[in-house]
Amino acid sequence: MARTVVLITGCSSGIGLHLAVRLASDPSQSFKVYATLRDLKTQGRLWEAAGALACPPGSLETLQLDVRDSNSVAAAREHVTEGRVDVLVCNAGLGLLGPLGPLGEDAVASVLDVNVVGTVRVLQDFLPDMKRRGSGRVLVTGSVGGLMGDLEGHCLLAVLLLPLGVHSVSLIECGPVDTAFMQKVLDGPHQAMDRTNTRTFRLFHQYLHHSKEIYREEAQHPEEVVKVFLTAMRAPKPTLRYFTTKRFLHQLLMRLDDPFGFDYAAAVHRDVFADDPAEAEAGTKAGAGAGAEAGGGARGMGDPELGDPLAAPQERLRQPLSPAPSFVSWACAVPGDGAAVAAVNG
Ligand SMILES: NC(=O)c1ccc[n+]([C@@H]2O[C@H](COP(=O)([O-])OP(=O)(O)OC[C@H]3O[C@@H](n4cnc5c(N)ncnc54)[C@H](OP(=O)(O)O)[C@@H]3O)[C@@H](O)[C@H]2O)c1
Repeated sequence: MARTVVLITGCSSGIGLHLAVRLASDPSQSFKVYATLRDLKTQGRLWEAAGALACPPGSLETLQLDVRDSNSVAAAREHVTEGRVDVLVCNAGLGLLGPLGPLGEDAVASVLDVNVVGTVRVLQDFLPDMKRRGSGRVLVTGSVGGLMGDLEGHCLLAVLLLPLGVHSVSLIECGPVDTAFMQKVLDGPHQAMDRTNTRTFRLFHQYLHHSKEIYREEAQHPEEVVKVFLTAMRAPKPTLRYFTTKRFLHQLLMRLDDPFGFDYAAAVHRDVFADDPAEAEAGTKAGAGAGAEAGGGARGMGDPELGDPLAAPQERLRQPLSPAPSFVSWACAVPGDGAAVAAVNG
């Protein structure tokens, strides 16, 4: 029987690496995995992991693929000897964290070039063949933090691809995952901090502290996330979205439930600055009553499938938000001087 050909981007570490070796070592021996890397010099850890799981010969191959370069994407596709990819996993991505002002256009643009445009480049290159063959599956590593934007938008492709035989585009929505991702983010913005003002600096550090706590407490092992990818790959009728954790769903539902976003932003703000009464107070004053003025009526959106039924929206606002705030949305919640902290991710 022909093996399922899977091509994964971003396999030097983290989720991509774990997924690649998990599939290549599957007892069914039914997968041929092309693990692609931006830089083939970084493939050492992948092969170590493959050795540890005793991936059989021929189950795993590496290819160079930099999602920023459409020639490299096309070259990788041409090296797939089976002449087809049954499952495409768009996983490559990076993060960015820092005050918006000093971050610099280039830093933001480079993250979008990898996470958003890079994903589009890969889809543009691989989808035509799936459409021609009338079959294929696409999984995209997403993020609960970015759920309302970028990659979610692209994945509405699912609607258009369905009649063309490409059965699914699924987003695997991750919360924090214990990979190199956060460390890379933390290593990134410090040069930008020199160019920011004292208050922004302090706010940012409070936010960083909060984010690190969330990662420490909540980050999932990549293996847990890989299980969700397998569920999506094996589902006879895959859905558009799979959540790797239920921990952040109440926050997501709260955001959807509050179309104007004021109450949501205020609640996240209170959570981030819980240890700093002065900033918490400043944020509360800045946002006071805004939701009511905007006429932000709320409706219940609890879904028993997604976890416990939710409390009424106003009641939820009074509850502390223990999970991580949405980085992008949190930008709305910074009090006072208009400084903002943002992270752009999957
Ligand atoms: N970890 C989390 O908490 C978390 C949460 C939500 C979503 N995600 C998403 O999950 C995905 C995987 O991240 P991870 O947690 O496994 O982090 P990771 O260990 O840092 O893995 C990211 C991978 O993407 C690759 N990559 C970066 N730029 C690339 C490019 N231009 N072309 C090709 N590959 C590139 C990296 O390669 P290099 O090593 O060469 O840079 C690395 O292999 C990302 O899309 C991320 O946004 C992660």
